Amino acid sequence: MGSISCFAVIVLALVLNSAVYSNGGKTSVYVRKVEKAVDMPLNSNVFRVPSGYNAPQQVHITQGDQVGKAVIVSWVTEDEPGSSTVLYWSENSKQKKKAEGKVNTYKFYNYTSGYIHHCTIKNLEYDTKYYYVVGVGHTTRKFWFTTPPEVGSDVPYTFGLIGDLGQTFDSNITLSHYEQNPHKGQTVLYLGDLSYADAYPNHDNVRWDTWGRFVERSVAYQPWIWTAGNHEIDFVPEIGETKPFKPYTNRYHVPYRASKSTAPFWYSIKRASACIIVLSSYSAYAKYTPQYQWLEQELPKVNRTETPWLIVLMHSPWYNSYNYHYMEGETMRVMYEPWFVQYKVDVVFAGHVHAYERSERVSNIAYNVINGMCTPVKDQSAPVYITVGDGGNLEGLATNMTEPQPAYSAYREASFGHAIFGIKNRTHAYYSWHRNHDGSAVEADSMWFFNRFWHPVDESPTSH
Ligand SMILES: *[C@@H]1O[C@H](CO)[C@@H](O)[C@H](O)[C@H]1NC(C)=O
Ligand SMILES: *[C@@H]1O[C@H](CO)[C@@H](O)[C@H](O)[C@H]1NC(C)=O
Ligand SMILES: *[C@@H]1O[C@H](CO)[C@@H](O)[C@H](O)[C@H]1NC(C)=O
Ligand SMILES: *[C@@H]1O[C@H](CO)[C@@H](O)[C@H](O)[C@H]1NC(C)=O
Ligand SMILES: *[C@@H]1O[C@H](CO)[C@@H](O)[C@H](O)[C@H]1NC(C)=O
Ligand SMILES: [Fe+2]
Repeated sequence: MGSISCFAVIVLALVLNSAVYSNGGKTSVYVRKVEKAVDMPLNSNVFRVPSGYNAPQQVHITQGDQVGKAVIVSWVTEDEPGSSTVLYWSENSKQKKKAEGKVNTYKFYNYTSGYIHHCTIKNLEYDTKYYYVVGVGHTTRKFWFTTPPEVGSDVPYTFGLIGDLGQTFDSNITLSHYEQNPHKGQTVLYLGDLSYADAYPNHDNVRWDTWGRFVERSVAYQPWIWTAGNHEIDFVPEIGETKPFKPYTNRYHVPYRASKSTAPFWYSIKRASACIIVLSSYSAYAKYTPQYQWLEQELPKVNRTETPWLIVLMHSPWYNSYNYHYMEGETMRVMYEPWFVQYKVDVVFAGHVHAYERSERVSNIAYNVINGMCTPVKDQSAPVYITVGDGGNLEGLATNMTEPQPAYSAYREASFGHAIFGIKNRTHAYYSWHRNHDGSAVEADSMWFFNRFWHPVDESPTSH
């Protein structure tokens, strides 16, 4: 296509925001100008070190138990270990309580980390705003969070979805749009690939620190639920770094023991009316492996009266029609997809592919090596698969799609953005995806989800 007609298509796309229809669903014709995404320089305002001697930085929180009555508070001090105490109090009571954490450091080649603190605050009240203070003894900093409502059936709750964020100027736009989104996400389900520090020589871990300071403005105030991606592996035998996931596991703690997991890469939590199962695309998942055995025991335990919504997070998507990372999720799909259908998982969120895609409700579990039945089919017991790997990291957008669009793919678009999963009650959830190019309130893709256990009715527009 010549540059003039190409320009015309872009203008048309912007004006009409229409779509091209093919075999499958919609391939958005919205075309974002593809330019190399660049990391924000070290002296950017978002990386500023808080002032004061030994000031806590990179403050982040995540759920600290299985039901949402505990919070893990983590932060880094640079000058000296200082105190690992968290002071906290609920907004309704001025009585301050104390929790004691632990401090550790790690080395990565010739980098030595600051003092990394992790402290779990327990026995919190549900649905309550808490203030907390870190940095006791030197410079203190104060933050707050709100605990989720008690785990139960018809409790509304709103999750944000962010994946593959990195630390470019685009990443900053994604995070800003998430913060400004009028749907008001209360917890982020993070889909893996955090800092992209491994793009730097020797995986310069200074870029783990800058990422921690960049996202603090959200993750110090609402929990981010972590999934490990390939950029967390940090395996570099050439420089002696042979223990995978070292920076990630030192910096980001998750409550995996609460769900009887034996490793921090796969675990589950309950939050409000959702059960969230986090899986690891980069840990062994074949039969007899710890992850397989854990998932086999975990799925039958999910009580859909208690947590009607069953959400699975993983990094590498099973249904992906981009040429980027095509079929990388296939071996895990073969292992676990029959269970997802059997246990009626509502939705699976993944990252990894730096673009956006939403599937139909499909499964591909009939194949048995000789019967040739290897095409995904519509299946009302199957989850919807959504790829939100479009946080905006330095690797840029995945724009090359398989053609024609396969029938299982309902909507795909190569733009940066974030998504929101808004649970209304046990039967309904409203889902929307927001591309960075538009104002934060614009929904480029959306869908009403009907719960697979309580209201397993076909949601697709063609069924109405
Ligand atoms: C680590 O080594 C690299 C080169 O091997 C060098 O550029 C860098 O300054 C060193 N960093 C530290 C903290 O010594
Ligand atoms: C990042 O976004 C924030 C909020 O929108 C803005 O204030 C800040 O200047 C941005 N920083 C950079 C380096 O783009
Ligand atoms: C499922 O949860 C409900 C509500 O909390 C409870 O009444 C019921 O006993 C649970 N079922 C099982 C099998 O534990
Ligand atoms: C898109 O990917 C396919 C398959 O990997 C490749 O053959 C093709 O050259 C790519 N197209 C572009 C424009 O990069
Ligand atoms: C659940 O939420 C949906 C969407 O807000 C609403 O239409 C429906 O009536 C609600 N169901 C119940 C039982 O309240
Ligand atoms: Fe990835």
